[in-house]
Amino acid sequence: MKITWLGQLGLWIETDRASIMVDPYLTDSIYERVGEGYRRLVPLRPEYLACRPDVILLTHDHSDHLDIPSLKALLHEEHPIPVLAGSNAWEKARKAVGGSHNYVQMTPGTEWSVGNLRFRAVRAFHSDPTAVGFVMQGEGLTLYITGDTLYSRELARQVDEPVDVLITVVNGQGNNMNGTDAARLAQDVGAKLSIPTHWGLFAKFSDDPEEFLLACRERKLRTVRAEIYEQLDLNCLLKGEM
Ligand SMILES: [Fe+2]
Ligand SMILES: [Zn+2]
Repeated sequence: MKITWLGQLGLWIETDRASIMVDPYLTDSIYERVGEGYRRLVPLRPEYLACRPDVILLTHDHSDHLDIPSLKALLHEEHPIPVLAGSNAWEKARKAVGGSHNYVQMTPGTEWSVGNLRFRAVRAFHSDPTAVGFVMQGEGLTLYITGDTLYSRELARQVDEPVDVLITVVNGQGNNMNGTDAARLAQDVGAKLSIPTHWGLFAKFSDDPEEFLLACRERKLRTVRAEIYEQLDLNCLLKGEM
């Protein structure tokens, strides 16, 4: 399984049989609307707008996660796909993009399977009260994508399967946990490998992941400091080959 971090919590996940796009923010629409501080620090890569995902996951209704121009580019009327989304994001995407796609309202505990992949929504503690995270299982791997969330002991209680890869927010602003608490979560869920995200895209929130990486080192937890647009081969990383 390969994943490419696209900035914020955007992910392009490629499995043998299907590809999944998570929280695509692939434009500069926030900067165009809000202005300075929100200009992308990493150039646009329009080829990601041309991706043809088999599933889209939307954790919540904040514009760095639910970007209507990105969704309009990714969703093609001749290729209807499931769009699994937290309730507010589900409502907004349905209204703003619509079409014949299958918008599935995901609340904590609900599951959706596609082929050999299974997605479960888990609770997130964020300023969109309907925000969710996702546990994705397939090809022998379990990924836990936190979504935007503060730390709570409840987070790990919802994830009872062994986590291979934790993909977590670490920026500590805007109702997201900081690096120290994200490392606590990595330990709570027993993640074999953790990847810090939701940093480095906007000048306004240009935190680096060092607090997280240091806290993980102190806890003897494995991490990988991905760069935006870098493709990671999770199987190789878990086997220690990279
Ligand atoms: Fe966010
Ligand atoms: Zn958010």
